[in-house]
Amino acid sequence: MNILITGGTGFIGSAVSTRLREENHHITIVTRHPESIKAPMIGISELAQLKNNIDVVINLAGEPIADKRWSEQQKQRIINSRIETTQNLITYLEMTEHKPKLLISGSAIGYYGIGVSDSDVDETLEGDNSFSSQLCQQWETTALQAVNFGIRTCLLRTGIVLGKDGGALSKLLLPFKLGLGGKIGDGKQWMPWIHLDDLVGIILYCIENNNLNGAVNGTSPNPVTNLEFTKTLGKVLKRPTLLPMPSLAIKFLMGQMGEEILLAGKKVVPAKALDAGYQFKYKKLEGALLDIV
Ligand SMILES: NC(=O)c1ccc[n+]([C@@H]2O[C@H](COP(=O)([O-])OP(=O)(O)OC[C@H]3O[C@@H](n4cnc5c(N)ncnc54)[C@H](OP(=O)(O)O)[C@@H]3O)[C@@H](O)[C@H]2O)c1
Repeated sequence: MNILITGGTGFIGSAVSTRLREENHHITIVTRHPESIKAPMIGISELAQLKNNIDVVINLAGEPIADKRWSEQQKQRIINSRIETTQNLITYLEMTEHKPKLLISGSAIGYYGIGVSDSDVDETLEGDNSFSSQLCQQWETTALQAVNFGIRTCLLRTGIVLGKDGGALSKLLLPFKLGLGGKIGDGKQWMPWIHLDDLVGIILYCIENNNLNGAVNGTSPNPVTNLEFTKTLGKVLKRPTLLPMPSLAIKFLMGQMGEEILLAGKKVVPAKALDAGYQFKYKKLEGALLDIV
């Protein structure tokens, strides 16, 4: 198949591209820097001139969410980077004669909003007014326009992706290896994680299964609390985890970003992927971390 990927140079996108190439698919990556890398990479403005008939579009581009404090300007960059890219894709999907059969568009567990609750959260829970939720709602609504052109659309509500060379874990490893790790706040917030191999696996499963559409949670079947995550990472690294990071420090250092991303978290479960029969390679956190670190 011919597969077009935005954000294909990123942490998740490169793993997806590698796996799809291994399966003999032809990949075209949409990047902001097509001049710096060899074909088949194109800029978003070149979509209209694409010669290949694209069968599947995977949309992962976006300004990193957790790299900087959320000033009003940074929030706008986070929103624009996703909504403009997605809207450009929609314009392409509307005008192209050969309609792809599927759009897989990024979203995140941030869709489910802030607050901590111990009930299982499947794809039916509605969002709230937090920034993360509003961002995901707007991103999803933009992507869902593809349905009007008869294109099956999956919205990948991704959890905390654990993999080598990037993502959240690469930021956590150094303090934990130095023995400076510890729970964040009271440690009761949920951290719905997923191994990168399984996220790529779910993306491939969406391609293969015509019955999957709408929101699909990209999380493992066994989410853990921050306290359990902390203890498990310490155990795998054989390091102590006795230095907690108090909520007040997070709020002071990171503001709203810290409150929504580090101190809040719901118990998101991959109900639709499991119902559809996806077999997780890494069901438990310890196995996933042992594979990675
Ligand atoms: N990693 C996670 O744990 C996680 C969790 C939930 C959701 N997600 C979502 O999944 C998507 C992929 O995540 P990732 O971890 O692979 O992200 P990443 O490594 O930061 O890659 C994202 C890609 O988006 C493009 N990009 C970055 N800033 C941009 C901007 N300002 N405007 C337009 N494009 C921009 C970049 O491609 P070019 O430089 O080639 O243009 C980059 O390679 C993101 O949208 C993210 O929000 C990730």
